[in-house]
Amino acid sequence: MPKEFTVTPWKVEGEVDYTRLIKEFGTESVDDKLLNRIKKHTGELHHMLRRKIFFSHRDLNWLLDEYEKGNKFYLYTGRGPSGNTHLGHLVPWMFTKWLQDKFGAELWFQMTDDEKFLFNDKLELEETNRLAYENALDVIALGFKKGKTKIFADTDYAKTLYRQALRVAKKLTVSTTKAVFGLSESDSVGKHFFTTVQSVPAFLPSALAGRNIPCLIPHAIDQDPHFRVTRDIVHKLGYYKPAAIHCVFLPALTGPKGKMSASIAETAVYTTDAPEVAAKKIRKYAFSGGKDTVEEHRKHGGNPDVDVSYQWLRFFEEDDKKLERIYNDYRSGKLLSGELKEILIEKLSVFLKRHQDGREKARKVLDSYIVKD
Ligand code: TRP
Repeated sequence: MPKEFTVTPWKVEGEVDYTRLIKEFGTESVDDKLLNRIKKHTGELHHMLRRKIFFSHRDLNWLLDEYEKGNKFYLYTGRGPSGNTHLGHLVPWMFTKWLQDKFGAELWFQMTDDEKFLFNDKLELEETNRLAYENALDVIALGFKKGKTKIFADTDYAKTLYRQALRVAKKLTVSTTKAVFGLSESDSVGKHFFTTVQSVPAFLPSALAGRNIPCLIPHAIDQDPHFRVTRDIVHKLGYYKPAAIHCVFLPALTGPKGKMSASIAETAVYTTDAPEVAAKKIRKYAFSGGKDTVEEHRKHGGNPDVDVSYQWLRFFEEDDKKLERIYNDYRSGKLLSGELKEILIEKLSVFLKRHQDGREKARKVLDSYIVKD
């Protein structure tokens, strides 16, 4: 019996089988041949590529063909501002920053305040719009280049976006939104319409420049249904289909099932959590792959493959040798669960301090990253 799980842009549940997702979504896996091809251009590979945290893609070989012909691409990614940013959100953004540096690419970053208003009964537009600019601080704190990075909240860039969304909407039927997103007759017309807005940045720079520019979208795999629709329609409009590279989810603190929920505080560490708060959450909630007693643990060792502290280190500890040592020591029983947690806490304390510092500095330069109309 295959295990049951759900992955849609608005719901992730159960233990996700990523190999099965590649088949079901019809994407391609990131294999060593592709990694070597990327490495030719970047010199080194980001640890999230080495560890196949970015495990799936669409048309990346085509994108590199174009790049090698001198046809440079831009990056597009985004955030649905429904609450505070947590560490899971940062995963695709950190990787996007690396891509920006390595390929000298421009980034278009979409804040879907409209989406979160439409899909969340409790959120008003004023609140999702406010959160868009709060979340933008986290994006800027990661070090994206001024002048090469455009961040926009949908409702404040509406004139430009709406004109292009209309062109997408004209080619999108309700049978498609039902089939692709599982929406129904009783869902609001706003929900059926929304995906057109998420499509726009995948071709907007081309539309504005009057010539086709390749686009690469780094994102978590749950957003793929949107871009399946996008690829189909923008092609009909005469633009390139965007390429994409997909990552797995950072597991929730409480266990490997599903992605972190921004609405359940114990399952996530927020970028605004003081290091001591993060430490407490990890000590109290981080799901452990260790044995029940120290004696048993020393004898049989722990299981890093289900241990959330170890799993988080795969995302945040860049040093392969260090990570391997931790893996082996935990497996053998030399390293205890509590000690493993402290390694993660130390790593994240340094990260959070620096990020929070960058976040405050970002307030002063926010305007220079925002585009509006
Ligand atoms: N819908 C996404 C979310 O809820 C936000 C988003 C908009 C996005 N455009 C994107 C995410 C492009 C990845 C890539 O989080």
